[in-house]
Amino acid sequence: IPVQPFDLVVFGGTGDLSRRKILPALFRRVMAGQCPEGSRIIGASRSKLTADEFREMVRKSINEFVPAKEFKAADLEAFLLMVEYCAVDAFSDAGWTKLADTLSMGDNAIRTFYLSISPTLITPTTRQMASFKLITHETRVVVEKPLGTDLDSAKSLNKTLKDVFEERQIYRIDHYLGKETVQNLMALRFANVLLEPLWNSKYVDHVQITVAETVSVDGRGEYYDLSGAMRDMVQNHLMQLLCLVAMEPPSRFDADAVRDEKLKVIRALEPVSMRNTVRGQYRSEGEIASFLDHVGNSASNTESYVALKAEIGNWRWAGVPFYLRTGKALKKRVSEITLVFKPVPHSIFDDSNEGFQNKLIIRLQPEEGITLHMSVKEPGPGGMRLTEVPLDMSFADVVPEGVTIDAYERLIMDAVRGNQTLFMRGDEVEAAWAWVDHIIAQWDASSSKPHSYDQGSTGPEDAIALLARDARRWQPMG
Ligand code: BG6
Repeated sequence: IPVQPFDLVVFGGTGDLSRRKILPALFRRVMAGQCPEGSRIIGASRSKLTADEFREMVRKSINEFVPAKEFKAADLEAFLLMVEYCAVDAFSDAGWTKLADTLSMGDNAIRTFYLSISPTLITPTTRQMASFKLITHETRVVVEKPLGTDLDSAKSLNKTLKDVFEERQIYRIDHYLGKETVQNLMALRFANVLLEPLWNSKYVDHVQITVAETVSVDGRGEYYDLSGAMRDMVQNHLMQLLCLVAMEPPSRFDADAVRDEKLKVIRALEPVSMRNTVRGQYRSEGEIASFLDHVGNSASNTESYVALKAEIGNWRWAGVPFYLRTGKALKKRVSEITLVFKPVPHSIFDDSNEGFQNKLIIRLQPEEGITLHMSVKEPGPGGMRLTEVPLDMSFADVVPEGVTIDAYERLIMDAVRGNQTLFMRGDEVEAAWAWVDHIIAQWDASSSKPHSYDQGSTGPEDAIALLARDARRWQPMG
């Protein structure tokens, strides 16, 4: 879908996220021909760089983070022609007039401000944007996580944003919503007649959502010790996935219709008791440092792993547990959602099929796809024996090469285009914090500590026990 020529200002343009994700995503969209001539990408940060010095940094980032086989030297040169730079200081007036002049020099109606900056800089930056009159009717602002660290801070962030922007102008990013399979989940549910009749407590036994990572928190210890898996992953990515699985069909595929339904799910979540949560920290492994070493705090109670049992108090899902787990330094990088269906009410075959449960697995990564586990007759003459087979749909097999795009590419272009469907609304973020805060408050008040687990394992033993108590098992982690 085409966009109009735009100006995109990246605050924190010299930072890590900009170099790794934002600039490469923009470069790919430019190469794909999606950014009309005259569009500009303006880096903005405190560093006193000239435009040429910033372009050099952009060149290095692209060479580092976009595989050489994806582009030609001329593509990069053409991209650099779109790039400009303004040094601005959030805490003073330095640089703002130049930024205002640069913006008003062009005649692009669409302005997108991408705030890839630390939370402490958001209030002063947005205030300066307002006082230097940078905000027009066609302005959007993209905000990165953390969107607060609890309900109070999320409310004050929302207030800061709403002091200068209207909600229709605010794009709160959760990059999980930009992943191809996450959108496919909506297509799967709402563009097919087959699944929706089964998508409820009558047929679904339980749901599992796993986001497992092999990486540790090495290098990010300081941030992570303050955040932990609950704030870093559950409050946003896992809860968004849960919403998309559990929400009612929206009446239209538009921003507010979708977000209204997600909000209803969050508000219907029952408070989780301490007993239904498991916290973990990875321990040291020979030479490899432990979580406590990585955060540099031997008394830390912060979790690098969390598992919990969530329940949704509404007609569709009453009695269907949603088990969530996420962690670092685990066995495999895998993000997937599994719906485990109930067994048939009465089996007419022999014991071989006793207790078999259909499973629908939606894989977000590493190999995106959807698998449905079915019971079929075992081939051969051996009578009516049953076996389980996967009906597999791997996106790599059905999508022509080069068609899938990275989450950031999709989300940035959606923001430029003015489509908020895949972005979180302020009330959604606050409701998610309210639910998460209740869990964290119980942890803080308790004297128990996170359980330690082996690096490269599937997490702490207690997480296995969480499901075993309900006579259930986690799906194998790869
Ligand atoms: C980020 C978290 O939001 O998501 C990181 O801050 C995490 O801790 C990352 O590693 C995972 O994203 P992805 O796309 O690699 O699954």
